[in-house]
Amino acid sequence: MPYTVRLEPIGIEMEVEEGETILQAAFRQGIMLMHGCKEGQCASCKSILLDGDIELLRHSTFALPDYEREQDYILLCRSMAYSDLSVELLNYDEEILKLAIPVKSYPARVSGIERLTHDMRLLRIRLNDAARFKFHAGQYVDLTAAQYGVTRSYSMASTPSSSRELDFIIKVYPGGKFSSLVDGILKEGDAITVTGPYGICCRRDNNGPLILVGGGSGMAPLLSIFNDMIEQGQDRPVTFFYGARRPQDLFGIDQIEKAGQRLSTFRFVSGLSDVTEQDALDGETGLIHEVVQRQLDRVTDDTTEAYVCGPPPLIDAVIPVLRIKGVDVERIYFDKFFAASPIESEMNPYAKGE
Ligand SMILES: Cc1cc2nc3c(=O)[nH]c(=O)nc-3n(C[C@H](O)[C@H](O)[C@H](O)COP(=O)(O)OP(=O)(O)OC[C@H]3O[C@@H](n4cnc5c(N)ncnc54)[C@H](O)[C@@H]3O)c2cc1C
Ligand code: FES
Repeated sequence: MPYTVRLEPIGIEMEVEEGETILQAAFRQGIMLMHGCKEGQCASCKSILLDGDIELLRHSTFALPDYEREQDYILLCRSMAYSDLSVELLNYDEEILKLAIPVKSYPARVSGIERLTHDMRLLRIRLNDAARFKFHAGQYVDLTAAQYGVTRSYSMASTPSSSRELDFIIKVYPGGKFSSLVDGILKEGDAITVTGPYGICCRRDNNGPLILVGGGSGMAPLLSIFNDMIEQGQDRPVTFFYGARRPQDLFGIDQIEKAGQRLSTFRFVSGLSDVTEQDALDGETGLIHEVVQRQLDRVTDDTTEAYVCGPPPLIDAVIPVLRIKGVDVERIYFDKFFAASPIESEMNPYAKGE
């Protein structure tokens, strides 16, 4: 130990230490391989073992069915090396590989919690002085509240220009181990460990038109991408779709529209899926993929990029619509907000807390 893993077809070699998965080793060494849930649920990290021995940790058979395991498919987030390995990546993005930032843990403190809607909170975290945290707009981190024994993933809603103070938009689930903490339990000054950055749904430095589609807390990474683009002085045509259930679930619209005025071409479309006759309505109704279907013109520019964030069903419904509208599948970027898996331990093994 450590063992060497050779990643084909890109020809990168990296080390894997005892007790870490291949994906964790890649994060530590700043190699951004394709990933999603990081815990064997989503199949984003599926690859082929060409040579060597691994132990495959518990995972969902939806992500890796037994018949694929027999054909040497593996999940990098659940594979521990037991010899030097050669692995063929099924999905990789050379642009993202170049953007990678090594994943580390940073001590931080809660610096504020604000109510955005009845079930949405803005959590602000300040990293301790020595911290030198960097991320790309659209990425996420794992937040650990060690005193409550829980780690969950949350996307930054703020932009990389403010890397000492990070904003998160968190939907409160009654009984949710982490999200209920932002509803009256965590307070200013409480310790939180930030581990990251993770995620491949980060803003690419291109110039083509941009389509942003999000719902609920999925707005967090989209706001980071949108505001970062404006801060960087880029003037790309933007169409911003925002889905929610009821009018009272919408937040931040004024700020989005104000920021959009700095662009030559900007269109904001909100969609409500659960409206009553009493709701004064001047937006679209229906699920957000139906709104995109109705409101998005067919894409004519090959360089159009789409970023989609929110719960997995939203993303699974929006992607086919974007493809029908002519967006190149290679330019559709997304992060699915999976609920944490019960097969994973509650605590991030790397976050030491305070
Ligand atoms: C890459 C990524 C980025 C994420 N970014 C964000 C973000 O920016 N903001 C945000 O609010 N969340 C985000 N999440 C989801 C977040 O990590 C947690 O899963 C969520 O906050 C619930 O955690 P919990 O501990 O409160 O609930 P848990 O204790 O894990 O679950 C409690 C109950 O709530 C239900 N529940 C939990 N999550 C969901 C869900 N998504 N949909 C429906 N029911 C659910 C569970 O079924 C369970 O019954 C992200 C997830 C991932 C994977
Ligand atoms: S990242 Fe490996 S299965 Fe989701």
